[in-house]
Amino acid sequence: MTYVETIQNFNLMIKAKTIAVIKALVIIGVLLPVSTLSPLAGGITQASAQELNIYSYRKPNLLAPFLDAYQAETGVEFNVVHAPKGLVQRLKSEGAGSPADVVLTVDASRIAELAASELLAPMNSPLIDNKVPAYLRAKDGTWTALSTRARVIVASKTRVSEDAIKRVEDLAKPEWKGRLCSRKGSHVYNRALLASLVVHHGEAAAEQWAEGYVANLARRPQGNDRAQAKAIHAGECDIALMNTYYFGKMANNDKNPEQKDWANSLRIVFFNQEDRGQHINITGGGILKTSKRKDAARKFLEWMVSDQAQKIYAEINYEYPVDSTQAPSPSVAAWGEFKTDALDIEKISAATPTAQMIIDRTGW
Ligand SMILES: [Fe+2]
Repeated sequence: MTYVETIQNFNLMIKAKTIAVIKALVIIGVLLPVSTLSPLAGGITQASAQELNIYSYRKPNLLAPFLDAYQAETGVEFNVVHAPKGLVQRLKSEGAGSPADVVLTVDASRIAELAASELLAPMNSPLIDNKVPAYLRAKDGTWTALSTRARVIVASKTRVSEDAIKRVEDLAKPEWKGRLCSRKGSHVYNRALLASLVVHHGEAAAEQWAEGYVANLARRPQGNDRAQAKAIHAGECDIALMNTYYFGKMANNDKNPEQKDWANSLRIVFFNQEDRGQHINITGGGILKTSKRKDAARKFLEWMVSDQAQKIYAEINYEYPVDSTQAPSPSVAAWGEFKTDALDIEKISAATPTAQMIIDRTGW
């Protein structure tokens, strides 16, 4: 049995409980202001010998297959607090009494924010150090990437010729005026990509790029990654940025088959292949300083980078393995091989505030 609590936003909490499958959320709770929560009032208490408490930015349905597999193998049960944001504030307010053992995040900046807030303990795992390349984990051992995703350019197969765009820098060129669609710049995926440009080219050049990119937009920034695919399919624009797994999710979407058409209208462009490589982002994990079960938490994170768990990342969400020697799943591999920008994720995180200021100034 897995207990799940979902915080819809920082001010509201929905208590939910599931049996085995987190997807089937049965809401039994009431809305409570999170500020009134003591650590125990949230429903999660200190984990017992065969339990682990997870605080997660990762969506419950993407987490469930991992927890089910680990529980089947080890007998360890999980209690999960899921929140789209605000975990740092929650952990800080819970302080030393926090029941959290493990934190799982999406995006480079969020795991770095937890580390900068001194909420994470060193994992002390030679296994993780061996398996995960150094640029995908913290130098002080407080967090590691658990999977990677490429943020690629997608372009209309019919309206943008092959090889017309090779570098992400090209998106700022005036020849693409009125051809781009975009999610808001302040979304973590775009902000991390811009942060990588800040690191590679400096703040002034990154801002110049963002100005050119915004000037090329066919419409004001809006919607999620899939909305950009929909717009390209509809002919509203021709080019956008997208995380690779959305391409997989759309191309195989039997529930909403119109999304297959959106994916089919796109060409994936892995950018900067002749220079530094394609920008990637991560999902990550770490152990909380306050955890009373650090050994069990470390074992779980070590299992998350195992070949078995890495296959689940590919199967459920079309993500790439953290271990570059491991082949991606056949459906992911079919998009083509690419060279990765091995820029240190910690440097991307450090440049995130600068990237946000550029986003504010350029109106991305
Ligand atoms: Fe996403």
